[in-house]
Amino acid sequence: MRISVIGCGYVGLVTGTCLAEAGHEVICTDNDPERIASLKAGVVPIYEPYLDAMLAANQRAQRLSFTSDAGETVRAGEAIFICVGTPPLENGEADLSAIDDVARMIATEARESKLVVEKSTVPAQTGQQLKRVLEVYRRNGTVQFRVASNPEFLREGTAVEDFLHPDRIVFGVEDEVSERQLREIYRPILERKFRCSVHMNACPATQPPTLVVTTINSAELIKHASNSFLAMKISFANMIADLCEKVGADIKEVTRAMGMDQRIGPRFLDAGLGFGGFCLPKDVQAFIRLAERSGVDFNMLKEAERVNKEKIRRALWGVKDKQGGVLGLAFKANTDDIRFAPSLDVLRKLLAEGAEVRAYDQEAMDRTSAVFPQVRCCREPYEVAQDADALLILTEWEEFRQLDWKRVHGLMARPLVIDGRNLLNPAAMLESGFEYYCFGRPMESAAAPLVLPQISKTNAVGITA
Ligand code: UGA
Repeated sequence: MRISVIGCGYVGLVTGTCLAEAGHEVICTDNDPERIASLKAGVVPIYEPYLDAMLAANQRAQRLSFTSDAGETVRAGEAIFICVGTPPLENGEADLSAIDDVARMIATEARESKLVVEKSTVPAQTGQQLKRVLEVYRRNGTVQFRVASNPEFLREGTAVEDFLHPDRIVFGVEDEVSERQLREIYRPILERKFRCSVHMNACPATQPPTLVVTTINSAELIKHASNSFLAMKISFANMIADLCEKVGADIKEVTRAMGMDQRIGPRFLDAGLGFGGFCLPKDVQAFIRLAERSGVDFNMLKEAERVNKEKIRRALWGVKDKQGGVLGLAFKANTDDIRFAPSLDVLRKLLAEGAEVRAYDQEAMDRTSAVFPQVRCCREPYEVAQDADALLILTEWEEFRQLDWKRVHGLMARPLVIDGRNLLNPAAMLESGFEYYCFGRPMESAAAPLVLPQISKTNAVGITA
């Protein structure tokens, strides 16, 4: 099928590339001409595993193309996927102006009837608004627009794999033709009939994806509710981590056993600095605003957001006025994305206190330098450790787990490590002579002055009372 994709951010690029990989003819556009020029030259402006090779291969096969001409893109596809950004406004609501602009553009540029698919994350009832705008601005009475919602559940870092091997695919539709068309688009993925270059055709023997067909409003809500639930799960784990510190329990032991209950599940229970990125924080806020506007009390979610913010403040207790070294800038491993990353708050606060900050990240240093030119980006983690008074681990890159920590100890001015991602083994770190601080794990050595007094004080009150 001929498919148009509007918006070449990470969702649009992964969607367009994977639909081409599934055998469709895909044309993509973006209102940033530089981005299009770079994509035409085969240069992918984001780091996402597998994406660049897959994009280049599909360009070569002439199934995937890029153009700055939005009108041409609209006219080319039978189905148009809207993948533009919905960033947060000052008040936390999603800014839907890009969706609105695209809807007007589609309405005026289309010469034939189209299926318009909302892929961007939007609050419930946006699809209804989209239908109204398409109707109001359409030029030609014979052109019909059908609207559908097809939320994405892509995680940065594994987005290509998530697209090609999803657990579920959701269609929010209001008519049979749209459903049929979407089934056709996703058939190769639903039936697993495509050449999978991620797994070289040896795909894991998991269940094929479940197709869920709902109304448009439900599909929109499914997306926001899923991300909000994940955020609550992380904040819940972080609250348990606080409790673990107070009562001398180990969060890893607690969440491991909790996760064995199939009703709970083991994932998204990793305590640490909390959730960041361009999705969870903004979607939580937008969902809170939607609930407020709809007269539904969602204090539970507000609490999850508060717990998340608190985590970053706590990570900085030990590093005031120090020469700080930062390991990890991306909001999570396997991405170069720093939007709403915990590292941004940490850097801002360290710099505000006049600290000299050095940092290292496998992928995210260029993006960080653009925002914080004062931060000295290093070629390797050991350079960050040299003479540092404290090291903060802010991203769970495997590389940091594998470091020669004895060497790091020898390089630091004061061997203080704040492990914001619970990446390292506390016993091993304490044994190596570090002052080591992490989240929700007991410190059994007197070499942990940051945490011990706090735990023992609370134990006296909390456990024996
Ligand atoms: C999230 C959702 O997981 C995707 O399903 C969704 O499609 C996507 O948002 C989106 O709306 O586009 P993503 O933002 O890529 O995906 O990142 P996550 O893997 O959800 O991680 C978010 C944050 O939570 C990261 O900062 C991560 O370090 C943190 N996290 C995650 C924890 O602190 N603990 C955990 O147990 C898991």
